[in-house]
Amino acid sequence: ARPIVVDCDPGHDDAVALLLAVGSDEVDLQAVTTTFGNCSVDDATRNAVQILTLAGATGVPVAQGAAGGLDGVSTLGNYVHGASGLDGPAMPEPGFEVVAEGAVELLRRVIESSDEPVTIAATGPITNVAQLLLDHPEVSDGVREVIFMGGSTERGNHTPTAEFNTYADPEALDVVLRSGLPVRMVGLNLTHQALATPEVVTRMAAMEHTVGRTCAAWMGFFGASYNRVWEFAAPPVHDPCTIAALIDSDVIEWREAFVAVELQGTWTRGTTVVDLHHRYPDERPNAQVAMTLDAARYWDLVIEAVDRVGRS
Ligand code: BDR
Ligand code: CA
Repeated sequence: ARPIVVDCDPGHDDAVALLLAVGSDEVDLQAVTTTFGNCSVDDATRNAVQILTLAGATGVPVAQGAAGGLDGVSTLGNYVHGASGLDGPAMPEPGFEVVAEGAVELLRRVIESSDEPVTIAATGPITNVAQLLLDHPEVSDGVREVIFMGGSTERGNHTPTAEFNTYADPEALDVVLRSGLPVRMVGLNLTHQALATPEVVTRMAAMEHTVGRTCAAWMGFFGASYNRVWEFAAPPVHDPCTIAALIDSDVIEWREAFVAVELQGTWTRGTTVVDLHHRYPDERPNAQVAMTLDAARYWDLVIEAVDRVGRS
């Protein structure tokens, strides 16, 4: 199995991403690191521990990371994910302790001690990953790729043009995009194809265990937020798309492109600029960009993994 670490801000869709990682044989979840984003980093850390406790994955080390972006600002998404960052169904009490070292140190330790290069899946503001590359550039050799949920080839969500994760720390994304590491971007143009339709939620709710029913209830809370804020009929379940891509190489179609992120801009800070048509002839492609999702295949993967976690 491919060794991975998930850097996240759980968050309802981050929570499903963690379950997908725990429930698949194709990836080996070596660590979870947390960041501010959907909620404060303290809340994200508690949520991560509770999700892994729910999943019975109490041996996965969790370390807490950044409380704000590289610019020190903490942009939060509680308006989508609720006061706790994971509002909705009751969760088990945290079943284990967070490791004492911070996120950057845990990432470094996992990468340096791995026999195989490690994949970093980032599903929140990408601050911890950028800080790792800034503080310990030598770890790059041990990183297979960085796959992140963020940005878009098209519209935004936190602002009309900027997606939440890239808005929350554009300087960090800039570090990652310039790092020379293989980078894959899973933006809103892709994740808006990953809708938890009533049929999907019914499949979750029909599972005869707490994990499935909890997922269905998360979708209920998340769906109500998406309906209220963006008038979506069903919520886009963004973050598990990154993990699904690592499990099944056919679930997403990609295009190579030059990707940049706006660091200034009166109205467009945090907006990704994806040059799909080579309009900047001097810029070389620096990322693979997710374009098309096989939604049926995606939901089969997610449902199967959730059911597996719930039964074990
Ligand atoms: C991203 O922001 C958060 O709301 C989700 O967890 C996802 O990572 C979508 O813009
Ligand atoms: Ca997230």
